[in-house]
Amino acid sequence: MPQTKKKPVHLQEAQAADNVVSVRNVSKSYGDVEALRNLTLDFPRGQLTSLLGPSGCGKTTLLKIIAGLIEADSGEVLVDGKTVTGPGPDRSFVFQDFALLPWATVLRNVAFGLELRGVARAEREDTARRFIKDVGLAGFENSYPHELSGGMRQRVGLARALSVDADVILMDEPFSAVDEQTRRKFQEDLLSLVKNESKTFIFVTHSIEEAVYVSDQIAILLPRPSRVSEIIRPGSFRQKSVENIRRDSEYLDIVDRIWASLRSYVE
Ligand SMILES: Nc1ncnc2c1ncn2[C@@H]1O[C@H](COP(=O)(O)OP(=O)(O)O)[C@@H](O)[C@H]1O
Ligand SMILES: [Mg+2]
Repeated sequence: MPQTKKKPVHLQEAQAADNVVSVRNVSKSYGDVEALRNLTLDFPRGQLTSLLGPSGCGKTTLLKIIAGLIEADSGEVLVDGKTVTGPGPDRSFVFQDFALLPWATVLRNVAFGLELRGVARAEREDTARRFIKDVGLAGFENSYPHELSGGMRQRVGLARALSVDADVILMDEPFSAVDEQTRRKFQEDLLSLVKNESKTFIFVTHSIEEAVYVSDQIAILLPRPSRVSEIIRPGSFRQKSVENIRRDSEYLDIVDRIWASLRSYVE
C-alpha cells in the first residue's frame, strides 16, 4: 500500500475573500445568560460556512441576529456592507422545526415567502413549482404537511427558502429532525445546491461529521459566552464525488482534529 502523507489542516485567521456577511464584535445576553461575547466572523460569498458548537453555545442566537430576527446588545452585522436592522429579502431562514403552515398545501407553503413579499399568485406558484421539483417533491404540490414525512417537510422548508431568491440562506440544524439515511441524502443534496446556486449558505450544526462534509468553512464556537475558537477550511477532498468524501483521509483527519479540540468542553 502506498503511504499517504497526512496533509495539515489549513487554518486561517482572516481572509481576503469577498465576504457577503460580516459579523463584527457581536454580544448578546438573555438576562443573566451571556450567549455571545464579542463574536467576529466573515462569511465568504457563494460558499457554505458552518457554525459548529455544543448545544446551548449560541448558534441559533447568532443565526437569528444575522437574520435580523433579534437584535444584538452591541456590535453589528453587515450584509453586502450594509448594517442589518431587521429581516430583509436578502436573507432567508430554514428553521429547525420546519415552520410550515399546517393548513396550507405544499404549493402554498413553498410560495408563502413570495406571498409575503407581494408577488402575484401565478408568478409565485410558477416559481414554487420549480423549486418543489428541485428538492424532489414533484407530485406533492397539493399535499398537506401532516401527510408528509419529516424529511419531506424539511424539503418544503428548503424549497420555500430557495424560492424567495435571497442571496443568503440561513439554516438552523435543518437535518436534526430526520432519520440518518434521509440526513445523508440531504447532505449530498446540499453539496450540489451549493455548487449549482450562487448563494451563500450559513449552516448551523452540532455534528462534526456533517460540518466537515458540507462546509467550505467551519467556524468552531466555544461554549457560552460564545466566540469563534478557530476557523477551518476543509480542503481538496471537497472536489471529490460525494460518495468518496467520507472515506477520504483528509476528511477523516479534520473530523478527528475538531473532535480533539472540542472534547475538552464535553462534560
Ligand atoms: N429567548 C431566550 N431567553 C432566555 N435564554 C435564552 C433564549 N434563547 C436562548 N437562550 C439561552 O441562550 C443560550 C444560547 O442559546 P442558543 O442560541 O439557542 O444555543 P444553540 O443554538 O447553540 O443551542 C442558551 O443557554 C439558551 O438557554
Ligand atoms: Mg440552536
